[in-house]
Amino acid sequence: MGFPEVRMRRLRRNAAIRNMVAETRLMADDFILPLFACPGERVRAPIAAMPGVYRSSIDGLLETCGEAVDAGVGAVLLFGIPDAKDDEGRSGYAEDGIVQRAIAAIKRRFNDLYVITDVCNCEYTTHGHCGPLVNGEVANDATLDILALQALSHARAGCDMVAPSDMMDGRVKRIRAQLDSAGFELLPILSYAVKYASAFYGPFREAAGSAPAFGDRRGYQMDPRNGNEALREVHLDIDEGADMVMVKPALSYLDVVRRIRETSTVPVAAYNVSGEYSMVKAAADRGWIDGKAVMMEILTSIKRAGAQAIITYHAVEAAKLLAVGR
Ligand code: PBG
Repeated sequence: MGFPEVRMRRLRRNAAIRNMVAETRLMADDFILPLFACPGERVRAPIAAMPGVYRSSIDGLLETCGEAVDAGVGAVLLFGIPDAKDDEGRSGYAEDGIVQRAIAAIKRRFNDLYVITDVCNCEYTTHGHCGPLVNGEVANDATLDILALQALSHARAGCDMVAPSDMMDGRVKRIRAQLDSAGFELLPILSYAVKYASAFYGPFREAAGSAPAFGDRRGYQMDPRNGNEALREVHLDIDEGADMVMVKPALSYLDVVRRIRETSTVPVAAYNVSGEYSMVKAAADRGWIDGKAVMMEILTSIKRAGAQAIITYHAVEAAKLLAVGR
């Protein structure tokens, strides 16, 4: 049967029927809000390219967490901006480091808020690369030791999940072993399994002060031209013990999200990264697009593609809109 017996418009005529047949439903608990923790008190430094996003000292982070909880957002992803950096990123695993203190403070105040930590060295190294350098190249195996110490320090501080984002080979296995041997066998790992070498990270690097001092990350992050390679990465990380995998960035890689969703059974997260956020904010600011509508359409598309969790700077704003029925 076809037209005129079939008319697709019948199920689009009003909100009630559209809502009844909607295949994708965004919910506040789809979202994970990234947070940037910095030392000090009453620090709330705006990030120029990311309106509404700040680097905050712990007091400010707690305020933002309160807002997130009130809006129904269930999880945050913590990044640290340390006082001190060195060649290897040792401040990343200091017991009283910025992330470690932030975790403890957040869990003390909001016990039910799920705290995920980004595990990587680029915020903690003077050169901004994700691990120690040997002949100008990030040394994979030496980086693993530092990552494992960092993950363990986050676990000790009380985080709920660790998310390694460095793209070194073998890090999930190494981190799993470290956590298990210290009694954290129930702490899950969300692997940034598929992280592309992307220009969409630009604003984040300003936020985190983690732009590489020289070169780029193409020697360890994935080539945007590849899709099969993403499936391989996911497969390896699952074998190493990843409980969830992430695709990053989200928007230019929705095909990859879909393929992973269809070929593996672990939950998939997608990171709606800084550049994706900035583009929406900048265009909305100029009146070129309806920022809220575009935001919801983007988040919906990420979920429709197959992501069960969406890491997004829009989390609180989107959750509030959902609460009032968009
Ligand atoms: C690395 C890391 C990056 C992001 C999250 N973790 C950036 C990078 O590889 O330079 C990017 C997040 C974003 O752009 O929003 N620790």
